[in-house]
Amino acid sequence: MEERYLELIKIINEADYNYHTLDNPTITDQEYDSYLRELYNIEEAHPELVRSDSPSHRAGGKVLDEFKKITHAIPMLSLSNVFNEEEIRQFDDRIKKEGINPKYVAELKIDGLSVSLNYKSGKLVSAATRGDGIIGEDITNNVKTIKTVPLTINKPIDIEVRGEIYISKKRFNEINADREKKGLELFQNCRNLAAGSIRQLDSSIAASRKLDCWIYHLPNPTDYGIKTHYEALNFMKELGFKVNPNNRLVNSIEELLEFIKEKKEQRDSLPYDIDGIVIKLNDLQEQRIMGFTAKYPRWATAYKFPATQVLTKLEDIVFTVGRTGQITPNAVLSPVLVQGSTIRRATLHNEDYVKEKDLKIGDIVSIRKAGDVIPEVVESIKERRNGTEKDFKMIDACPICGTKLVKKEGQVDYFCLNPLCDKRNIESLIHFVDRHAMNITGLGERIIEDFYNMGFIKNIIDIYKLKEHAEDLVELEGFGNKSVNNLIEAIENSKKNSLEKLIFALGIEQVGEKTARILARRFETMDNLMNTSVEVLTNIQDIGEIIAESIVSFFNDDKNKELIENLKELGINMAYTGEKIEEKEQFANKTFVITGTLLNYSRDEMKRIIENFGGRVSDSVSKKTDVVIVGDNPGSKYEKAQKLGIEIWNDDEINSIMEEING
Ligand code: IVH
Repeated sequence: MEERYLELIKIINEADYNYHTLDNPTITDQEYDSYLRELYNIEEAHPELVRSDSPSHRAGGKVLDEFKKITHAIPMLSLSNVFNEEEIRQFDDRIKKEGINPKYVAELKIDGLSVSLNYKSGKLVSAATRGDGIIGEDITNNVKTIKTVPLTINKPIDIEVRGEIYISKKRFNEINADREKKGLELFQNCRNLAAGSIRQLDSSIAASRKLDCWIYHLPNPTDYGIKTHYEALNFMKELGFKVNPNNRLVNSIEELLEFIKEKKEQRDSLPYDIDGIVIKLNDLQEQRIMGFTAKYPRWATAYKFPATQVLTKLEDIVFTVGRTGQITPNAVLSPVLVQGSTIRRATLHNEDYVKEKDLKIGDIVSIRKAGDVIPEVVESIKERRNGTEKDFKMIDACPICGTKLVKKEGQVDYFCLNPLCDKRNIESLIHFVDRHAMNITGLGERIIEDFYNMGFIKNIIDIYKLKEHAEDLVELEGFGNKSVNNLIEAIENSKKNSLEKLIFALGIEQVGEKTARILARRFETMDNLMNTSVEVLTNIQDIGEIIAESIVSFFNDDKNKELIENLKELGINMAYTGEKIEEKEQFANKTFVITGTLLNYSRDEMKRIIENFGGRVSDSVSKKTDVVIVGDNPGSKYEKAQKLGIEIWNDDEINSIMEEING
């Protein structure tokens, strides 16, 4: 019995692969159905036999309460963008400057959502979304419903691969047509539909959507003795993954531009949406030389197709109030479809912007949108005016609380300075719970606004007291025991966040995510930060006078002091729990530049070491550089360092310094 069961798994998985991945069916639908029925019968009679790679999991059926979190072994990065030939050439020049003679792999940029698939001994064990790049969500059940994701690969190895989950244009149209019939809200574009489907807690809904998946990235190629990205793609294909046949190895920028031109022409006839071309340095050793910035690899970039422009009517201009009280005029547009999504609004930034563009209410305007970039009003079409258009007039009082607006000297923006303004408070709360700040899932913008208006959450402290209202919340429409419990748990969990999240969440003017991280690492506790001075702060690299003054004045404010005190009492962690800086004299307070490939460390590892020992890494050599670390195949930075007489460390020096430190 077990033997037959294993045989059936093999037959069906192979049939799925041939049909869905290779587009080359090898058995009839009737045969397929009968094998599947046989498999289901065995599983029903012998649940103890059910294997993790059984195709029965493809049907979905498991309903989760929430997605578990998965920490990525290697962060999932995004790509930098380029928008024209000149920027592509600049990308190429940056690589050549490192002494590399680049070959690239050009790939279609699939418009879906990225996924990381993890196999142990050849079996799919988990699948995760990108999330914030560090922690994603466990979407294994939903991913198992994607027929082109192999449940077992062709070698019994441990491997992680990454790719894009997407939905075909055909399925998108079918699903929307069906929803229209049922009077349901339509999906805006393929990507939203794919993302919405993968977020389903009920995996049979995900299964019904018929998602698909292209695999394009192997994060650990050296583990498999692979030397180029193109080899990695072929390797993944051999393992049974669906790898896009359009991928092409190109030997020059000219060949790359040719590829782009060709794919731009084919774009509309492709069965799935693409929003550009991804360009990746082929040689993995060269990729290592280029390394990463905090967000992106330097060895790859995404060329985004140019924005399309359409005309629509500017129906009105309305004003919104931000967290800082900043007033922004917004265009209300006649809904118009641009590149798969419906545009109804666009920011007009400030009074000067509207005046420069000479926009009048009632104008026909041209709208531009590129991929997921925010839509933009390009210009008004003056010839289409008929005299009924109305002039734009900036408001002088806050549209929410009526307070007279203030414009600081030399600035373009107006502000509502009323600290009690409801909209400002709501926006501050939205910022506080944001993924990049305290990361409280379940408190979306609408819910914050509703809870604010209902009086449950009027300020930050109220968030942590929300559990006192649990009984009332359960009664609200759209809530229930389960979602209220989840929400309260998410709030409780946020108390454990490392300090940088709280610093960013407080919304101190001028303090973004990066500065918050620098501060948390440097001061380690909130008390240390609160007791610091402008002088100490300005001595930190990357912190100038304006930021320093803003920080000190924030913590001088009694209201803010009280807020921190109250948060402490509620048990919110006030200490940095990330990697610690452990100053070592060889590194501390020095500026380093790295060039070439090091024997024992990747560029990122070296960077982390430098930063953890209190140093700083910069991209370019200047008089301010203290040490240039030189590996194999160094670029022009090495020559420059020699010319400027800067201290140079090679592999040997690094090794002996590391030995000194590690004892
Ligand atoms: S490579 C470190 N290749 O585009 C390598 N990404 O804008 C990172 N995407 O987050 C990704 N098609 O979700 C890569 N052929 C392709 C892609 C691709 C689509 C997505 C991916 C990524 C985003 C960046």
